[in-house]
Amino acid sequence: KSVAIVGCPFRGGQTKSGVEKGPMHLIESGLPQQLAKIGWKVQFDGELQFEHILAEDDPPIGNLKNPRSVSRVSELVAKVVGEHAKNGQLPLTLGGDHSLAMGTISGTLEKYPDACVVWVDAHADINTAETSDSGNIHGMPLSFLLGIGTKLKEFSWIKPLLTPQRLVYIGLRDVDAGERRILREHGIKAFSMHDVDKHGIGRVVEMALDHVNPGRTLPIHMSFDVDGLDPSVTPSTGTPVHGGLTLREGRYICEAIYETGCLVALDIVEINPSLVDEEAAKKTVAVGCSLVRSALGESLL
Ligand code: ARG
Ligand code: MN
Ligand code: MN
Ligand code: MN
Repeated sequence: KSVAIVGCPFRGGQTKSGVEKGPMHLIESGLPQQLAKIGWKVQFDGELQFEHILAEDDPPIGNLKNPRSVSRVSELVAKVVGEHAKNGQLPLTLGGDHSLAMGTISGTLEKYPDACVVWVDAHADINTAETSDSGNIHGMPLSFLLGIGTKLKEFSWIKPLLTPQRLVYIGLRDVDAGERRILREHGIKAFSMHDVDKHGIGRVVEMALDHVNPGRTLPIHMSFDVDGLDPSVTPSTGTPVHGGLTLREGRYICEAIYETGCLVALDIVEINPSLVDEEAAKKTVAVGCSLVRSALGESLL
């Protein structure tokens, strides 16, 4: 069991500063040691450096903000994640904002073309340049991965290898009108907070896996946005939405995914230690670490 930590201090997919400090806070609070303690061989060679590839002049394309920087950073992340996966390691990507998932999922699909994606989030992050109100690319990574919307030459490195039936959401509660349309048109399965309330988290995870991974044989990439949890649990995040998952529901999702034995890559994104106050940041970072430990088997020792 070998995990490769990919620290991604990137904020260009949204406009609030501080989310680039997420990875170092997770590292400094002892995440590598915690993973070693539960039996993982941990590789961490320092955060990725993005300064040299951030576009100096990066005016919007249409309404897309920082498009060149987002594209270059995710392309690098895809390479690094893909290489770790090819070495037989489990890439653990620490964000940074959720636009990074363009890179992480591209990297996973390079090694595991049949992988499915479990996306835990308050948001669907499937806007296209046409449907997005904000122009923030962290609200769009899935449309790029699925090949939905206008293709831009700046993002031509992305192979749209993800298919709608290999994607499932848990935790949704803030979905834009254009996103609803996309989910409906493409038949993408989503379990909202309403579903969690109705069925309970155990049944929801089971139904989600039955949809994307019925035989529990396909590799799983889990992309976990900490704003999927309730803001009382993970307050330090850029786009909090009330009425989210409890700490136990979040950790249960991670545990259940670990139990399948199919997890091949994990993202923890959108921790912004600059938001709210120091106590909130500490709490959010500690919860982030606990999610990773649960996904890597802590509770099943
Ligand atoms: N739907 C909104 C948008 O497109 C919010 C997206 C929030 N995404 C996130 N990764 N936190 O701007
Ligand atoms: Mn979100
Ligand atoms: Mn919204
Ligand atoms: Mn997200």
